[in-house]
Amino acid sequence: MFSEKDRQFAADFLERVAKKVSIMATQIGGNFPYTTNGEWHPKGENADISYWTNGFWPGMMWLMYIKTGDEMYKKIANECEDKLDAAIDRFYGLHHDVGFMWSLSSVANYKITGNDRSRDRALHLATILAGRFNPAGNYIRAWNFEAFTGGAIVDCMMNIPLLTWAEKYSKEPDPRYSHIARAHADKVLETFIRPDGSVYHKVEFDKNTGEVIDYPDCQGYAPESSWSRGQAWAIYGFAMAYLNLGDEKYLDAAKKVAHYFIANLEPEKLPLMDFRAPEEPVYYDSSAAAAAACGLIEIAKVVPEFEKPMYERAVMNLLHVLDENCNYNEEELVLLENGSGAYHSTKGIHKPYIFGDYYLLEALMKLYGNDGKFNIHN
Ligand code: GLY
Repeated sequence: MFSEKDRQFAADFLERVAKKVSIMATQIGGNFPYTTNGEWHPKGENADISYWTNGFWPGMMWLMYIKTGDEMYKKIANECEDKLDAAIDRFYGLHHDVGFMWSLSSVANYKITGNDRSRDRALHLATILAGRFNPAGNYIRAWNFEAFTGGAIVDCMMNIPLLTWAEKYSKEPDPRYSHIARAHADKVLETFIRPDGSVYHKVEFDKNTGEVIDYPDCQGYAPESSWSRGQAWAIYGFAMAYLNLGDEKYLDAAKKVAHYFIANLEPEKLPLMDFRAPEEPVYYDSSAAAAAACGLIEIAKVVPEFEKPMYERAVMNLLHVLDENCNYNEEELVLLENGSGAYHSTKGIHKPYIFGDYYLLEALMKLYGNDGKFNIHN
């Protein structure tokens, strides 16, 4: 069990974060920040309403609504969810990240308010996600690029909770969704997780035979390196697979990747954006820390008593560093700094990404805010 001191720290941290988010909410309203210092999706004529990050802001608004009961947050979340209907209407724009997008908007809405329209949207999108399953290789196809028609990425472990949710809320509980979630998780276990607990970001399968044909260039330094946000997606994704599908092998996978992640942390520093990159330049990623913290909290909840302290210590170490990387200046529209997008795209290094803010708020809410009663992902 987290100590009283840890919970008090999380409570105080949550208050700082919530205060900042309340200020951001009045300025951002029903828009979709990507980096909170001014990049938006959609923006201008080339608006991309289908962008993978467009569920995080409504997700934060739902977390704030749970915490405060303030109707402003619900209104903003609903406004964003309505706008996302434009993405549903554009089939070619839809990809596997419908899981991130509609779990945090429509599933959250349905869980909190029981809104049937939100349930229906989420079921539609879960069905789209299920339709991306390739039975020749037992994986969910990630994107729609011609060059990656047989491609899957580790991030998708965060999308499959939409499937396990849909099993429960389809008209009669429909196990096909979970069969697909299980088949995909098993494939990730087999082909993405390396023996030492590090993970590949991308795997390309032959779309007709299902054989692994390539490990393409990725968001980390190189295919064989170790992109830390990808490790975090695996930690949290497998922890949720265990909670939602109930097989110990998924918990073991989450623990294995977690042990590798924890072993690569430097004291009082954010995780490097890639644990196996050259010494210079030094790139950190706060969003990897925040997402990993969420997964580690879930692992700590379910392991036996004497296993808990290691995960809890890691969570607290990450939270202290995250606190140091928060911008509490009320004049600036930025919360968590020093997130990183992709290693070889230097314009995306050390930015305040909305997904970092989201997982930070979620981690604090898991730890303190609602005493674990509400989990968007399961
Ligand atoms: N899912 C894309 C990323 O983590 O950057």
